[in-house]
Amino acid sequence: MEIHTVGPSEFLSIDGPANIKVIDGKLYVLGVEYGPGSAFTVMRGRRIIAKSLSSGKVEIVLGPEGNFERVSGDNEVIDVWDRALAVIPLRNSIVVVLGAMDVGKTTVTTILVNKGVREGLRVGVIDGDPGQNDLGPPTTISSAIADNLITHLTQLRGLRSVFVKTTSIEHVWDYVLNSITRLVNDLRQNYGVDTVIINTDGWISDATAIGFKLEIIRRVGANYVVVIKRGNEADGLINKLTEFVASPIIIPSPPNARIRDRDDRKIRREMGYSKYLMPSRDLSINLREKPIINLPLYSGLIYDRRMLSLIRRSLNLPLYYVEQWGNAAIAIGNTKEYQVRNLGSVSVVVLPMNWERGLLVALEDEDHYLLSLGMLRRIYYNIGKAVISIPRSFNYEGRISHIRLGMIRVNDNYEEVERVLYINRLESLLFNRGHV
Ligand SMILES: Nc1ncnc2c1ncn2[C@@H]1O[C@H](COP(=O)(O)OP(=O)(O)O)[C@@H](O)[C@H]1O
Ligand SMILES: [Mg+2]
Repeated sequence: MEIHTVGPSEFLSIDGPANIKVIDGKLYVLGVEYGPGSAFTVMRGRRIIAKSLSSGKVEIVLGPEGNFERVSGDNEVIDVWDRALAVIPLRNSIVVVLGAMDVGKTTVTTILVNKGVREGLRVGVIDGDPGQNDLGPPTTISSAIADNLITHLTQLRGLRSVFVKTTSIEHVWDYVLNSITRLVNDLRQNYGVDTVIINTDGWISDATAIGFKLEIIRRVGANYVVVIKRGNEADGLINKLTEFVASPIIIPSPPNARIRDRDDRKIRREMGYSKYLMPSRDLSINLREKPIINLPLYSGLIYDRRMLSLIRRSLNLPLYYVEQWGNAAIAIGNTKEYQVRNLGSVSVVVLPMNWERGLLVALEDEDHYLLSLGMLRRIYYNIGKAVISIPRSFNYEGRISHIRLGMIRVNDNYEEVERVLYINRLESLLFNRGHV
């Protein structure tokens, strides 16, 4: 523990883990003034800039990797951000926060949440970044309601999550779009929030990404759009945006933000899975009662012995389970990899044995909200059961309506080992050609 004396208008850069207590004076942090006796935390891996509003004393406890230093205010964004964000009347607004990775989207979202709370509003928050979702586990997007001042979105209790199968938006952006829209409507209609702040993912680099961002704005009926600009990364987005939004609020990214590399992000996600899923237990699910919604086994025509041997011979593959829906079929066999074979007018998707092992899945309720994340261990085709690792504490088994297959394969330590992109191809084949 250290005690530091600060002068008026000094800027303090604090890296977590750290705990800061104001003994004397006033600190301004993420839209909130902390007076004598009040305290806040900075989480591991995050950096927060505090501005002192008067001279005073602060007590600082640093954890491992924690750091505290005074920085020049010349390039600091606190005041610029404050002035820019002050034009947003939060009551009855929907605000979308956009920008590339690590530019400060989560931080701006936190500031807007605090501003709303300070005005006495019931603030709805959506984290639409499935790679770095602070309100729910990775692979989901989530909503929450804030009625307390915070320094991190993770301090809010998640209200609802929607599983979007993967952490890379480009493969699932249309589903993410629908889900964000649903969560906004849910917050407004079922929870009577006064304002909604939407944090987004950092994918803004190509036309599809920009189209997706514009579509979020349109679909949720956003009144205010904040874009955080670092270099010229957001220029394409800003150009398009000005055709749709009267006056987007464009602010700079902080000069000394921590940039996470790919490995860093991966490790954080993996910590997210294990924190969520461990300690775990195995749940056996009868797939005839609680089907896999995006691979509805046991709802089609299941081949009998005779049919199996026919198809084995025509495809010349060792298959042991085949099920057909209209013009699409799946076949499980002793093959190496995903392949599609045509048999007359039927497209047969051949999946290798064990194709399912380690896939992240969601247990969902009848409204398609997440009840729990799980890890698929095995499907027993002959008895129609799936064994899924779930958190030991899960106790909503009665509310499970169905399962949704994800696209990320993890190992027993919940490390990501593969992105299984054929899950999407499989889905579109079944739902377009088949009669699922
Ligand atoms: N004013 C600032 N100065 C320096 N670093 C900051 C500032 N504001 C936030 N950061 C840090 O920058 C990193 C990225 O910010 P974050 O809000 O998580 O960005 P994004 O959500 O766009 O990925 C985080 O580690 C955060 O703590
Ligand atoms: Mg973020």
